[in-house]
Amino acid sequence: MVMPDAGAPPEPVVRDVPEPGPGQAVVRIRASSLNYHDVVNLAGLIRGPWPRVPLSDGAGEVVAIGEGVRRLAVGDRVTAAFHPTWLQGPPTPAAKRSVLGDTCDGCLQQHLLVDAAALVRTPDHLTDAEAATIPCAGVTAWSAVRIAEPKPGDVVVAQGTGGVSLWALQIAKAHGCVVVLTSSSDDKLEVGRALGADHVVNRSRTPEWHDVVREVSGGKGADLVVDVGGPGSLGRSVLATRMGGTVAIVGGLGGYTTPAEIPVSVAMTQNIRLIGVTVGSVVDHTDLCRAVTAAGIRPHVSHTFGWDDLAAGVALMEAHGHVGKIAIEVP
Ligand SMILES: NC(=O)c1ccc[n+]([C@@H]2O[C@H](COP(=O)([O-])OP(=O)(O)OC[C@H]3O[C@@H](n4cnc5c(N)ncnc54)[C@H](OP(=O)(O)O)[C@@H]3O)[C@@H](O)[C@H]2O)c1
Repeated sequence: MVMPDAGAPPEPVVRDVPEPGPGQAVVRIRASSLNYHDVVNLAGLIRGPWPRVPLSDGAGEVVAIGEGVRRLAVGDRVTAAFHPTWLQGPPTPAAKRSVLGDTCDGCLQQHLLVDAAALVRTPDHLTDAEAATIPCAGVTAWSAVRIAEPKPGDVVVAQGTGGVSLWALQIAKAHGCVVVLTSSSDDKLEVGRALGADHVVNRSRTPEWHDVVREVSGGKGADLVVDVGGPGSLGRSVLATRMGGTVAIVGGLGGYTTPAEIPVSVAMTQNIRLIGVTVGSVVDHTDLCRAVTAAGIRPHVSHTFGWDDLAAGVALMEAHGHVGKIAIEVP
């Protein structure tokens, strides 16, 4: 992606600590994490009110609650939902209208004022930096895997070793699935293996990675491919999928505005379901946290930056230098 020159970063702004109104809570943010979405947002490519505090993901503890908040107490460790207004059920325009860091202030601040209904308790075994990878990448991967109703032994393909894909790998393993992981790098694939990938494919050396998926699935094809590449990968994802299987369309790393080509006759005759996924609801977020606790999942964070070094984190993400997630510490 070609980023506009944003010039020098703005000076930090000092504000009063907010007071929660009825139904609201204030969270002392301790950590955030970067998503590709934030790179696009920080480039000024997402509309919304300006100026605003960026970053969708945040983890910390509740420091104040407003009238009528019963579900949470001061001191609870929480993460905030990506879509604070999508509480449950299928996506609707109204549910998805709000995104932290896009339509309202996000998590690159010490005190986040948010509806208490959008907060989910942090799994006890996670650090705040690990927990801060849940709201966008974790919940998206959860939705993408769950949409295929996975059963033990199902074959799931995760593309690349970014945040969503390594979360998908860990969630699919927790469901007893066989995971095929692709990457541009052997070193990154080793990290994926350590996280449980059963088969790894270097897609730079083996661009026909869909053939490998067919081979390891006994010729049948994958039950689910979590596609993050879009143009350049979606066609192969269709070729990698079994009859009646699912391709979850999650990302557009190969280009957001470039159309993707798919083999239409294969998609049709193989009855393949292509379905778009956008993060998930607070209930999905809560279900993921339960699964993370039950399975003892620890998301992979390869790099951590201070909040005053955000540009370095963004540059690393643009260069695909990370594996899994990049955490941002909020002092
Ligand atoms: N739909 C949603 O709700 C949602 C939510 C979150 C993210 N997303 C989208 O999902 C995508 C991934 O997000 P992320 O935050 O996980 O990104 P990320 O952490 O930056 O992941 C990038 C990694 O993906 C791999 N990759 C790069 N280009 C690729 C391509 N053309 N085809 C396949 N793999 C490629 C690379 O890994 P290797 O070097 O290992 O190959 C790269 O390091 C982005 O497009 C993002 O906008 C969508």
